[in-house]
Amino acid sequence: MKTAVYPGSFDPITNGHLDIIERGAKIFDKLIVAVLVNVDKNGLFDYAERVNLIKKATMYLDNVEVECFRGLLVDFMKEKHSNVILKGLRAMSDFEYEFQMALMNKNLNSEIETFFMMTNAEYSFLSSSAVKQVAKFGGCIDGLVPESIKSIVVEKIQEGDVKHV
Ligand code: PNS
Repeated sequence: MKTAVYPGSFDPITNGHLDIIERGAKIFDKLIVAVLVNVDKNGLFDYAERVNLIKKATMYLDNVEVECFRGLLVDFMKEKHSNVILKGLRAMSDFEYEFQMALMNKNLNSEIETFFMMTNAEYSFLSSSAVKQVAKFGGCIDGLVPESIKSIVVEKIQEGDVKHV
């Protein structure tokens, strides 16, 4: 039984993330979506909200679990008995950042392998930050976030100020 972990900030989950989750869930026996703290990013949604949005958006995927962890990804992996990190890559601009993280995780635990999946071209421009920008000022986010969570996302973004979490 092969378990992979798909880590990220997911503030909030987008259709780009969901695409990676769906494809990853076909490859691995179990896929754990892990909401982790990125110390370089300010958050809008709190961690429980992010987890709930992902759970709602992935309800139909039987082998997907969603969890939250405050700490190092490698420690979470150990706890879950997994040695595979799954990540999505959009463009060359993602590469340096992802490369650095993959090597740091390898440095922390040499047993861990990071697998990269190319984004679906349809979502190559998509990011959580772009969704927040568009929704904040009344733009349409149809097709950018899962339909099942769209209204919650719009409501939160329009009411909320970006805060430190
Ligand atoms: O979606 P993001 O913000 O690009 O995801 C980055 C994330 C949350 C996966 C990364 O910041 C992370 O792994 N945070 C946990 C702390 C950690 O293990 N850092 C070491 C890797 S540099």
